[in-house]
Parts: sequence; C-alpha cells; structure tokens
Amino acid sequence: MRAPTHPSLRRLLTLAVFLPAPLCAAQPQAELIADRVVRFTDQGVSPDQLEPSVCLLHPYPAIGPAPADFPVAIDFSETPGGKEAFTVAIDPGTSLYATGEVAGPLLRNGRIVDTWNHDAYGYGDDAPHLYQSHPWVLAVRPDGTAFGVLADTTYRVRIDLTSTIEMTSEGPDFAVIVIDRASPQEVVTTLADMTGKIEMPPRWALGYHQCRYSYFPQSQVELIAKGFRERNIPADVIWMDIDYMDGYRIFTFDGDGFPAPKLLNSNLHDIGFKAVWMIDPGVKVDENYATWQSGTEHDVWVQNAAGEPFVGDVWPGPCSFPDYTNAAVRRWWSEQVEQFVQIGIDGVWNDMNEPAVFNVQSKTMPTDNLHRADDDLGGPGSHAQYHNIYGMQMVRASREGVMRANPKKRPFVLSRANYIGGQRYAATWSGDNSADWYHLESSVPMVINLGLSGNPFTGPDIGGFAGDGDGEMFARWMGVGSLLPFARGHTGKGNIQKEPWAFGPEVEATCRRALERRYRLLPYLYTLFREAHETGMPIIRPLFFLDPADPALRSEDDAFCLGADLLVVPELTPTRDRVPALPRDFAAAWRAFDLGDAADPDLPKLYARVGSIIPVGPVMQHTGEKFLDPLTLIVTPDAEGHAVGTLYEDLGDGWEFRDGEYRLTTYECIDEGGTLLIRATKREGRWIAPDRAVHVRVILPDGRELTAEARDNKDIIIPLR
Ligand code: NOJ
Repeated sequence: MRAPTHPSLRRLLTLAVFLPAPLCAAQPQAELIADRVVRFTDQGVSPDQLEPSVCLLHPYPAIGPAPADFPVAIDFSETPGGKEAFTVAIDPGTSLYATGEVAGPLLRNGRIVDTWNHDAYGYGDDAPHLYQSHPWVLAVRPDGTAFGVLADTTYRVRIDLTSTIEMTSEGPDFAVIVIDRASPQEVVTTLADMTGKIEMPPRWALGYHQCRYSYFPQSQVELIAKGFRERNIPADVIWMDIDYMDGYRIFTFDGDGFPAPKLLNSNLHDIGFKAVWMIDPGVKVDENYATWQSGTEHDVWVQNAAGEPFVGDVWPGPCSFPDYTNAAVRRWWSEQVEQFVQIGIDGVWNDMNEPAVFNVQSKTMPTDNLHRADDDLGGPGSHAQYHNIYGMQMVRASREGVMRANPKKRPFVLSRANYIGGQRYAATWSGDNSADWYHLESSVPMVINLGLSGNPFTGPDIGGFAGDGDGEMFARWMGVGSLLPFARGHTGKGNIQKEPWAFGPEVEATCRRALERRYRLLPYLYTLFREAHETGMPIIRPLFFLDPADPALRSEDDAFCLGADLLVVPELTPTRDRVPALPRDFAAAWRAFDLGDAADPDLPKLYARVGSIIPVGPVMQHTGEKFLDPLTLIVTPDAEGHAVGTLYEDLGDGWEFRDGEYRLTTYECIDEGGTLLIRATKREGRWIAPDRAVHVRVILPDGRELTAEARDNKDIIIPLR
C-alpha cells in the first residue's frame, strides 16, 4: 500500500500505529540494515510509509535493531515552518566532506549547501547549489574513524554544516542512513555498495576530450581533429555542442553546417577519434518537428499543475520536456537516442537537465508541475519531489538508448545534472566554471568531493568555460586536468580558441607533455577505473586517506592521490607559493619520479608510493593506436626490497571482461640478497596479452634509478650494485 503523500496525514497514521508504547518516547527508530549501517526514522514513522529510495540499489529490510553502542545519534525535529529536519552532533575535531558537487574547498565544515539541481553559469565559491544533488556527508572523527550520513530523499535538502550536521528537507518524512566504519575509505566503498558503482567505461573515454561551444561547421570539427594528429598531441574524442542541430531541435542536424554527420563520424573514426554529441531534454514545440510530434502522440511531457503539457523556454524557444520519471517515457526516449546514435555516434552528452528553463527566476520548472512517475520512484508526484532526479532519470534513459544501439559496446554518457547514485548511468563534468585561477584551483576539491559522494568519474572544463583566460593559466590547468578522471577541454561561445595549441608554442609543448603523461599513465588509470567499478574507491583521493588521524591533512586540497600509489603535487596559484600539507612519513613513504617531463614547471610533481609498482605504457596518440608494448614498471621498493602493483587489461570495450576476458596481473619485486627479482606472481582472468617487452625502472631511496629490459612473462633480475 502506498503511504499517504501528505506529511501530516502520514504522521497521524503513523502516530496511531506506533505511539501507544510510552517506551518509544522521543527516540527515533533505529534499525540495522547492514553491518554497522543503521536506518533512522522519526519517532512513530515506519520505514514502509516513506517514499521509496531512489539512490539505494534495492530496498534494505531491517535485519535487527540498531546495536546499543552504535556511535552516531540522530535527533529529528520539525522546524517552526513545519519542515522535517535532523541533527547529528559531532565531536570537536571532526572533519566534514562530500555533499556532492560543490564549489570551494575540500573541507566542508562551516558550509551550507542546498541540494537543488541548478543551472549555475560562472558559479562562485559560495554557490548554494550547483547542478547535482547529493544529500550526503562524510564525517572523519579526530581518531580517523568515520561515518557517513545520507538523507534518503529526493526533495530539496538544506545541509548545514556550520556547527553540526543538520539537514532540513522540503518534503515529507524520510529515512536517514548512517554508515559507521573504521576509516573514511570504508565509508565511501560502503556507500558505493549501497548506491551503485560505475560501469567499466570504454577505454577511449579515459583519453583526452576536446570540446567547444561549438565547433561549427563540420569541416571545422575535422580540422580540429587533424590539428591534434598533425601536432602529435594525444586525444581520443571530439565533441559536438548544440550548434550542430537545426534550430536547436534535438535529434536533427543543421543542413548547412552539418550536412553529412555520418560521414563526419566516419572521417573522425578513420583518424582514431570518437564522436560525442549533445542531446538536451527540451524538445522544441513545433508541429512540424518529428520528435515533438512523436512525444505529443506518446503523451510523454511533464505536465503543469493543470495537467497540460508544461512549456518552458530553452535554446530553441518554447519547449516541452519528457517526463523521464516514467518507464514508458524512458523507453520512448531511449528509442529516439537509439536511432540517433546509429550514425556512428560514440557517446552522448546530456546538458541542461536540471532541467534548466530560461526567462524564469527559478531557472527551472514550477515545483507544482506534475510527473507521472513509476511507483518504484515514488509514484505520481510534483516537480518538488522529482526535480533532483530529473537529470538522473534522463541519463538512465539515454544510456539505455546508447546500449540498445550498440549492445556489444560500453556506453558513455556525460551529464550535467544528477543525483546521488547516478554514477550508475553517467560521468559528470562540473558545468560552467570560469577561466580564472579560482576555478582552476577548485577543480581539484570538486572532483575529490564528488568521488567521496559516490561518483569517481568526473572532471572540470579544462581552461574554463566562461571567459578567455591566458596561456599561463591554461598550461597549469592542462597540467593538473590531464590527471583527473575525466579530462576534457571546453569553452563557451565567443571565447578565444582553446585547443592545446591556441596559446603559442610554449603552452602547446606543456599541453603535449601533460597529455603524453596521461596516455603513458593509462594502464595505471584503467586499473584504477576497474577498481572504482569493483569497489567504488575514488580514482582521485584526498591526502587524508593516507593518514585519516593526521589533522594536518584534513584540509589539503591542492595535492591529491591518483589511486593508492601516485601522489600528485600541482601548483594551482599564479604565485606558486603554496606549500602542501604532506603526510608525516612523506620523506620515507614516497619517492619522486617522472616520465621524462620533470623539467616542465607547469606539470604537477609526481611521487610513487614506496612499496608500489606502477604500470605505464608508451606515448600514444589515442587509446586505440597501439597495444601496450612496451610495458614499463615503475618499481619503488621498500627497505626490504619489496614492492607490489597490479595491472588490469581487457579489450577496452565490450562486455567480454564479464566472462573472464581480462587479465589482472600482480607484479612483485623481491629482494633476493643483492639482486631484485621482478616477476608476475599472480594472474587472474583468461585473456592472454600478446608477447611484449617490459622495461623496469627501479627508483632507489637516493633518487638513483636502476633499469632493465625483458619480455613479459619472464623473470627480471636486477643486480642492486
Ligand atoms: C551549457 C553547458 O554547461 C555548456 O557546457 C554548453 O557548452 C552549453 N550549455 C551549450 O550547449
């Protein structure tokens, strides 16, 4: 039975059912739903009366009462205005993180976020809300243990971290889920267990992406692609922004500018590029336009309070908006996408899906618009209920369409709007940042906080979307941006050109080095994506993961870790005068190394973890250009001469890896008394890599390097003296 939607009605009913026990006094209900994961509901509110969870992968029935010693307490209350709220008291010295896609520093203590997906062009440090909603806080206690707090509601939530963790919702009663763990890493992976992990992306999506609003006409797109190849600057993807469309009608092409999109895609493929095309949600109201006709025929539009199709302005003028909360509409949408991508489109870019609406103060639909949502999302309800998941449900449908067109390939969808759990469907870029040092600097903590909120596959517009910026900043941005999970250069209309060569030869050389570095690190990066896919561990990790009890690391957000084995120290200010807080054992636990590019001051410094083996490949111009040969192992042995690392390989696309067509190799370095022995000690999966050369670089404590060469599958022996 569905719960009554009106909160006070619901409350009355639950009071009747739950209150008679004087024992339950003012205590919230607390049930154990997984190991040290407790679901709290307000006094007298039964979890089955709440809206279904949209972010959790499945319902979590209670497995018992909360343990008496569960260390996190929730205090529910109602604000004077009748809103549902709760508070979690925190010990002094507790550091707060996550809250999704947020501007400003990594450490969120003192901040207020209002989860309401919002078109936020040129946002500042204090933006109350950006494009995505994650009502989720990660708290790291002074001793390094941690817990996470999730407000399991799709409604707007104000997260106030000024003194406690306080969340106030605009909607009816909701559950609060608390994950208690020994470390922040375990909290984050448990969140991923519960809300989903990313699917393994196609390898090309890890390459460099080049975008502009907009490359036009199609000959310009080809020129840009060729520009990369002529200059030997690695890149995998070119993006088509809205100007390819006929009058901004989605699923159409501008007859003059893009007369032969299929040919364009195929020409791009011929030179090793993939093509990603934008699809917005707004469908132009136009009786002579097939998509609008079909949508109207299938009755797919979000409705206004009067039950008529809602119309709002976006790029093409008045538009109708598909109601992606409904399964039949998602099916309809996925069929449009399926047809569209059949002309050789490799990936889909969903933008403006907060949904953004022009010429209204709210920048979105009225909250009393109506959605005919599936029962398992909550059933028919208002836009107030579904606003924050509109983009998530859109990318869910887009992904389905891309999959249906090419079932044997891994889909790639990028989204501006999303909701916690939406990492299952799409990667994220951080919207319309600006070409200034502030946005360069804050792109690092944004990516980290998104990773701590469940989405590891994210990145900013490298070079900045709003405004021009200059070559110095661009070089520095490319230096760090090329090490973030999603690496795409993009800029807005009317701005100067911002391809890697646009700022002259010196900046071009830095960009080439930065991208060559990314491509050389791809074997390691791909292995990290596999880890994120398997466990939910973020790809970019905060330094405090290295020693969660060290207060000095809690607010470091220039330096970061790329996976467990690589520490990255970028310089993100023009004056280069920031000294990063590094772990206490930094000198002993990390060793500087480079990929032949250390002389470039605009590239971040790289450090390998002592005890690690980092797999790297040769420079390539795109991910499909050549096989990983030679494989270089960067070996950083510890005092016992021991080091270990893994390399994940598969076909780079397709689903065969699910049936064992992959290879996960563990390489180990062992001190045999005077010689180092490096060998593959474990292999998993049945894919057989072609025979290849292996280069070994051993980084010694004094900075010296020993090198050796062999064939893979053979032991490698290096004399220590
Ligand atoms: C807004 C997006 O954030 C931006 O990346 C895009 O270029 C423009 N819309 C035009 O489509």
